[in-house]
Amino acid sequence: MITASHLVKRFDNTVAVNDVSFTVNEGENLVLLGTSGCGKTTTLRMLNRLTEPDAGKITINGKDVTALQPDILRRGIGYVMQHNGLFPHYTVEENIAIVPQLLQWDKKRIKERVKELLGKLNLSYEQHAHLFPQALSGGQQQRVGLARALAADPPVLLMDEPFGALDPINRQKIRKDFAELEELKKKTILMVTHDVREAFELADRVCLMDQGQIVQLGTPAELREQPANEFVSAFVKGQYV
Ligand SMILES: Nc1ncnc2c1ncn2[C@@H]1O[C@H](COP(=O)(O)OP(=O)(O)OP(=O)(O)O)[C@@H](O)[C@H]1O
Ligand SMILES: [Mg+2]
Repeated sequence: MITASHLVKRFDNTVAVNDVSFTVNEGENLVLLGTSGCGKTTTLRMLNRLTEPDAGKITINGKDVTALQPDILRRGIGYVMQHNGLFPHYTVEENIAIVPQLLQWDKKRIKERVKELLGKLNLSYEQHAHLFPQALSGGQQQRVGLARALAADPPVLLMDEPFGALDPINRQKIRKDFAELEELKKKTILMVTHDVREAFELADRVCLMDQGQIVQLGTPAELREQPANEFVSAFVKGQYV
């Protein structure tokens, strides 16, 4: 379970995140939704201490995240970066193996895990493992980004626009594969998107943000049927995309 309470982050004159609180329950998929610049990435980055908040508190499974060294904390949290963030000079296999290597898994176990994940994500070890990211399509790169985040089977997964670089048709297909992936079903997931359809398809609950604040947090049905204000009702109708 993740709890964020009263998070604040300022950059110069911008209040990027302004008193944001939410809980992601065990096994839940909470989707952070909102327009560009509303503070989604900043919120996500604070959870694994890529960005330190100016105020507020975060716990993951009951532990204050500031009690752990950032690199130790991050080994237990899968993170899919916006624009995938693969290391260009590492092969697909090396990218996926980063956390298992930090955890000092033996070589055979790492190779088996890489093979298993590539298979689950409809890539082939023989065809793709030795390639560098630039030799892959955008959709393939995003699958590798997801494989990398899943490699050590972390209980918590943070995903920043994991399907963002894709055209609508591929996006829908990868989203379907994603929703069916057994490996994700028990994980506690916080996913960022600006796409209403995507949010409503994948979320247990949606957290709609605007200008650094939460406007409404609820199930897709609650946002649709009981919008908190005009902004929410316009947003869920797709008028901000
Ligand atoms: N490192 C930084 N330095 C200065 N300002 C920043 C920094 N990171 C974010 N900001 C500002 O904070 C605000 C929120 O940015 P953030 O990246 O969290 O938005 P977002 O909701 O993820 O947007 P997008 O959908 O475009 O990815 C923006 O106004 C942005 O310019
Ligand atoms: Mg962002």
